[in-house]
Amino acid sequence: MEELLFHKEYEEFYNMANRSSVFRQYCEDAFGRDFSQDGFSDIRQINRIFDYIPQVDNLHILDVGCGNGKMIKYIQSKTNAHIYGFDYSANAIHEAKIDSERADFQVGCMGEVEYSAETFDMVISMDSIYFAEDMGLFVAQIFRWLKPGGIFFVGYQEGDVMEKTENCETTFLAQAFRKGKIRYQVLDITEETYAMLKRKRESAMKYKRAFESEGMEKWYAMLVGQTDCVKGSLEGYKQGNARYLYIAKK
Ligand SMILES: C[S@@+](CC[C@H](N)C(=O)[O-])C[C@H]1O[C@@H](n2cnc3c(N)ncnc32)[C@H](O)[C@@H]1O
Repeated sequence: MEELLFHKEYEEFYNMANRSSVFRQYCEDAFGRDFSQDGFSDIRQINRIFDYIPQVDNLHILDVGCGNGKMIKYIQSKTNAHIYGFDYSANAIHEAKIDSERADFQVGCMGEVEYSAETFDMVISMDSIYFAEDMGLFVAQIFRWLKPGGIFFVGYQEGDVMEKTENCETTFLAQAFRKGKIRYQVLDITEETYAMLKRKRESAMKYKRAFESEGMEKWYAMLVGQTDCVKGSLEGYKQGNARYLYIAKK
């Protein structure tokens, strides 16, 4: 586990996120709700998930790279689903397990964690699929875990971990879907993400003093640095960045 990309950094990140009240306030401000986000998923994006949840009794939903579980617990609060999540950060999963009900959280790595075939009505992956060693194989595995008619909902950013490609049909993920003959639709939310990142930048700056008073200068610098890409115009941002929501159906 130690050698995996960013593993040490994520352990530190969730150690901070689990303890810092300033970070919680910042997330509420920047994203409209605190899910200990490391990335791009604001409440508007997460609320879109509800439009695609299969209308069945006894829902089972998995969050891949679930962090400390706040996002999937929010989905549970609105759907009463049985929830599952895994993440390679032990700090994150320790927190996720606290106050969880009808929930199955585990420490584990993409490509190694296994579930029985046809377990889930929905699988979500917000800014985590890029960390799979082989995205195509991982997508195929997720489709084995989904029940027939199940939905895979993905928040996918280019210009961060993944390089920008031409458009929503040329991303690694779109290619993996087509290779696997998987039906999908995609929403391009690049423009609203530019606005969201501006908000994220302003929120970080607003809490500068508070971050400093918690001894969190390092995290403040990271949050501001993550939003340098919106210092320029929307057009400039769009040349190097894009954000898509993919909704694929089994
Ligand atoms: C960018 S963060 C996104 C977290 C959360 N889904 C969100 O939207 O805020 C990526 C997450 O994937 C986890 N992760 C990264 N690589 C992983 C891997 N190989 N196996 C399992 N989890 C991984 C990290 O610990 C982190 O929680």
